[in-house]
Amino acid sequence: MERTLSILKPDITRRNLTGAVNEKIEKSGLRIIAQRRLRLSLEEAQKFYAVHKERSFFNDLCAFMTTGPIVAQVLEGENAVANYRNVMGATNPANADEGTIRREFAESIEANSVHGSDSQENAAIEIAFFFSELDIVG
Ligand code: CMP
Repeated sequence: MERTLSILKPDITRRNLTGAVNEKIEKSGLRIIAQRRLRLSLEEAQKFYAVHKERSFFNDLCAFMTTGPIVAQVLEGENAVANYRNVMGATNPANADEGTIRREFAESIEANSVHGSDSQENAAIEIAFFFSELDIVG
């Protein structure tokens, strides 16, 4: 069993699509074992995305992530990191496969509906950013 950190981004909460995305997650076999709706401050968004701070899109990305509530989640399942990346689809929704969350819901490469950890190591770091062990009920 593996865990990964998922974020439903502000374009999802704005359009009232939290349940629609959760249905896709659960139908894929992943279990939502922790979930929290919150609004990030700019400082928190910059800290969460610090690995991207040299990228041209960093400022716009952090600003977008503060435009509305997000839903942070811990997902559990076999190969959860890789599986969730398949369920999400490619970062750019124009390249995302049919049936993926980003193909179905994303508005643009920035407003691309969901984030998922890219490795088990980052999953542990990102889960600890939002949740304590007490919040996670497997
Ligand atoms: P995410 O998985 O949250 O990780 C970083 C985010 O940066 C990514 O999804 C995109 O929403 C956003 N982003 C914006 N522009 C780009 C870009 N040109 N390349 C990669 N990611 C981008």
